[in-house]
Amino acid sequence: MFQVRSREWLRYIVTVCVILFLKLETLEGGITIIESAVAKGAVCLDGSPPAYQIDKGFGDGVNNWLVHIQGGGWCHSIEDCVYRKTMDNGLGSSKLMPELYFGGILSNQQDQNPSFYNWNRVIMRYCDGASFTGDVEEVDTANNLYFRGARIFNVIVEELMSIGMKNAQNALLSGCSAGGLAAILNCDKFRRFFPSDTRVKCVPDAGFFARVTDLSGEHHFEKYYENVVTLHGSAKNLPSGCTSKMKPGLCLYPQYAMPHISTPIFILNSAYDTWEVSNILAIGDADPNGEFTKCKTNLTQCSTDQIKRLEEFRSEFLGAVSEAGKPSSRGMFINTCYIHCQSETQSMWLGSTKLDDKTIAEGVGEWFYDKSEFMKVDTQNVLPHYC
Ligand SMILES: *[C@@H]1O[C@H](CO)[C@@H](O)[C@H](O)[C@H]1NC(C)=O
Repeated sequence: MFQVRSREWLRYIVTVCVILFLKLETLEGGITIIESAVAKGAVCLDGSPPAYQIDKGFGDGVNNWLVHIQGGGWCHSIEDCVYRKTMDNGLGSSKLMPELYFGGILSNQQDQNPSFYNWNRVIMRYCDGASFTGDVEEVDTANNLYFRGARIFNVIVEELMSIGMKNAQNALLSGCSAGGLAAILNCDKFRRFFPSDTRVKCVPDAGFFARVTDLSGEHHFEKYYENVVTLHGSAKNLPSGCTSKMKPGLCLYPQYAMPHISTPIFILNSAYDTWEVSNILAIGDADPNGEFTKCKTNLTQCSTDQIKRLEEFRSEFLGAVSEAGKPSSRGMFINTCYIHCQSETQSMWLGSTKLDDKTIAEGVGEWFYDKSEFMKVDTQNVLPHYC
């Protein structure tokens, strides 16, 4: 009788241990939902709580933190945001988020990510639709929509502080695309969470959305940014030095916002960013007959004139980068690959593209640790190409 019981107990204990082990396994890198954020009104578009993924640091990286903001465009109208709530990539709801992979700048392998592999690496999940700038108190109850990105940013950073980031020696805020823009616009805010002796910097990847002349000679994309800022109530969370001078919608553009941001920023961007070429230069309203459609989807289909137009775009892009200012703390890796986002893709982060014989990973690493200035623009390969 006693023996049977003890065997049952043993089985029970082994089962519990296996479950706990599996749970811990999936926790590493898995999605953590911040339920307590709901009480603070820091919620995704659909009112669900915000989320992040973390892969813990190890070795001498335990007190270093990389917070990487996920990208995924913006929503600029009620209909657009209502649709975003239902998207199965979870960009409007933590109820629908698939787990994201830790590659490139997020990799835990030394040979793939030499400077940051053993840091605490976090993915801040994007679910507000306005690069974490929005904050509207009123809830759109008719459509069940919340515009609270700025609050989400605070809540996630506070949570990370509480689980160890407050002891950080080094902290880096990065992000890709709309997440890259978020890393720029929230850079000083991120800095303020840390004591002054913490080294804090920001690396926006493909987040330098430039205000350039589009194919029709106008600036159609401007309207889109204006709508985002208005809908999400973003103005009060953009640099006041910018919003006091121009329409708040323009302050989403890094070239106007960055002169008012003091924390060191490394601009990682292609001068021929695929998204910018497709949606800013060749935005539908600027190309009603779709003459640029083939070219923007496949470079080998571009006519000589279209390549010329792309080169003008590059010049204007570099002009916008200059407008953003070039303080000595600035880092820069601006190549000419026809691509959007390079830090999350292993081959781009460490190999397929180099400037002065340095990979992106080397450039960002050296700049972050103040080993060297890194302000490099590709002036050898001036034509757009696939990498
Ligand atoms: C681009 O066009 C070339 C030439 O027509 C073709 O060989 C190539 O497969 C195309 N690439 C893509 C990605 O569609």
